[in-house]
Amino acid sequence: MASTATMPYDFLRQIVYARSYNVLDPTHDYLFETRLARLMRDRGMTQVAELVEHLQQRRNPDLEWAIAEAMTINETSFFRDIRPFELLRTELLPSLIEARCGVKRLRFWSAACSTGQEAYSLAMVVREHFSHLSSWEIRIEGTDIAKETVARASSGLYHRIEMNRGLPARNLVRFFDRYGEDWVVKDEIRQLCRFRQVNLCKSPIPFSERFDVILLRNVMLYFCRETRHELMRQVHRLLAPDGVLLLGAAEQPVDMSLWQACVRGGTCIYRPKSSE
Ligand SMILES: C[S@@+](CC[C@H](N)C(=O)[O-])C[C@H]1O[C@@H](n2cnc3c(N)ncnc32)[C@H](O)[C@@H]1O
Repeated sequence: MASTATMPYDFLRQIVYARSYNVLDPTHDYLFETRLARLMRDRGMTQVAELVEHLQQRRNPDLEWAIAEAMTINETSFFRDIRPFELLRTELLPSLIEARCGVKRLRFWSAACSTGQEAYSLAMVVREHFSHLSSWEIRIEGTDIAKETVARASSGLYHRIEMNRGLPARNLVRFFDRYGEDWVVKDEIRQLCRFRQVNLCKSPIPFSERFDVILLRNVMLYFCRETRHELMRQVHRLLAPDGVLLLGAAEQPVDMSLWQACVRGGTCIYRPKSSE
């Protein structure tokens, strides 16, 4: 049997899977060195093998979580893959607004929101193009497994480089304030959004009310088939019968018997089929 000294990455991949259900590709093992560098430095360690040995000697749930979090891919940007946001503006929101004019309420969920750009992009679409909704109850829930990214999303604080990725100049001027070298979202936008830490792979997902729009983009690609299958069942349960699910451009539901796919404006949207 190979010793763990030669297999530290297998051990770390198992830890990541046990916590976040992310399946890491062994061809990317080199990423452990860079992503775990800070975490190891903080604990006076220099080698991945040392970290593994430490964990094999004594269980340390906090450290295991920190490893899983450090290995998440948090890549995101404002108005990422612009087309879903265009479709929301031109078609999806107008018809949902018509359908909800009795209750004057809309609920959105940016699942796996990373540092919050997706949720704030949605808030900007609502405030910029649907100003008559100011008296409505609009709630955008942003959730992510990684504590640090959730904290960053809540802060609404972005570096110049992040602002330069996808954010139209008019939105910068209208919806952000200067904060030293950085920019911070204005209250008008922030008030619509709420962020919290949620593991999408831990059932049940802690929401009881249904959403009108769910964005579950660029996260399912890190999960295995069974995890995706269970997650999509949960998402189906949490989506209003006339609601819309938006996935990442490279993603699709495992079980199409629950979903009706439809291509609009170059974007595939999914509507829930009745599960009866
Ligand atoms: C590539 S980002 C996608 C961000 C955004 N949805 C987008 O498309 O720009 C993937 C996010 O999924 C989160 N994530 C990974 N596994 C998760 C899990 N089990 N539960 C919740 N979030 C998870 C990561 O922390 C990361 O922030």
